[in-house]
Amino acid sequence: MKTTIIRGLPALREQLSKWRRGGSGIAVVPTMGALHAGHLSLAEAAKAGGDRVIVTIFVNPKQFNNPEDLAKYPRTEEADARLLAPLGVDAIFVPSVDEVYPPGFSTNVSVGGVSDVLEGKFRPGHFDGVATIVAKLFLMTDADRAYFGEKDYQQLMVVRKMARDLNMNIEVVGCPTLRDPDGLAMSSRNTRLSDLERAIAPQLHRQLQSAALAIKGGEAVPAALETARLQLVDAGFGPVEYIELRSAVALESMNLLDRPARLVAAAWLGKVRLIDNIAVNPA
Ligand code: PAF
Repeated sequence: MKTTIIRGLPALREQLSKWRRGGSGIAVVPTMGALHAGHLSLAEAAKAGGDRVIVTIFVNPKQFNNPEDLAKYPRTEEADARLLAPLGVDAIFVPSVDEVYPPGFSTNVSVGGVSDVLEGKFRPGHFDGVATIVAKLFLMTDADRAYFGEKDYQQLMVVRKMARDLNMNIEVVGCPTLRDPDGLAMSSRNTRLSDLERAIAPQLHRQLQSAALAIKGGEAVPAALETARLQLVDAGFGPVEYIELRSAVALESMNLLDRPARLVAAAWLGKVRLIDNIAVNPA
C-alpha cells in the first residue's frame, strides 16, 4: 500500500484532527530522507508503539554549516516512499523550505551546554539548526512520541534537553544504531564513500570497541583514546576531529570510567565526515 504524502501544513493539520477525533496517539520520526534500514527501524519502533506514525522528510538548510554538504545531501523522495510503504507508516510529511522558513523567519532554539561540545564545536550553529527544526516538527505534528537514532547520540541528548527545558509534552525515544555486518554505522553519507574508503570505514567502530575494552580493562583513558586515534590515521582516516569519553547524559568530559559513559568520535574519510559512538559502562 502506498503511504500518503502530505506537503502542506493545512493538510497535515486536517489529517491530525481526524486521527485525534478517532482517539489515536501520534508519533513522529523526523528524517532528512535518503532513508536506510536505520530510519526504517525507527519507523517500525514507532508503529510498534501503537500510534499513528508520521515520517517527516525535510533537508534542513539551517543545520548544515557546510554548503557543499547541503548541496550533496542525497534527495531520494520516491525511493524513500517505496521503502516506507510496507511498514504501515500512516503519512509522510514533506514540507517545503518556504513553509518551514517563510520570509522573515527569525526564531532560533538554542540548547545551552550539551550543544556546545563535540559536534557543536566542529559544526558551529549545527545544533541550533537541529533544535529549531525539531521544535517546529514537534509543534507541527503535535506528536506524543518522537523517535531518534542513537547514531546521532549528541543530537538525541540535545533534543531530550530541549523537550525537558521547554516542557514539551512529548516522549523522546532513543533507538539503537543499526550497523552493516562489518560494523559500519548506517548513515545516508555512507553512499558517498569510494570502494576503498568503504573498506576502511568500519575501523571507526572497531577502534571505538578496542578503546572501550582497554578502558574497561583498566588502561588510562587518554592513552586508550590516543591509541585509537593513531590506529584510525594509520588505517587511512584524515583528521580525527575528536575521539572522547563523555558522560552518558550531560556529555561531560571524563578521564575515569566512574559512571555510565559514551565513547564518541568524528573523523574524515576522504571528503566524508563519519561519526559514531558506543556505550561504555563501569563494571
Ligand atoms: O538526524 C537527522 O536526520 C536530522 O538532524 C533531523 C533530526 C531530522 C533534524 O533535521
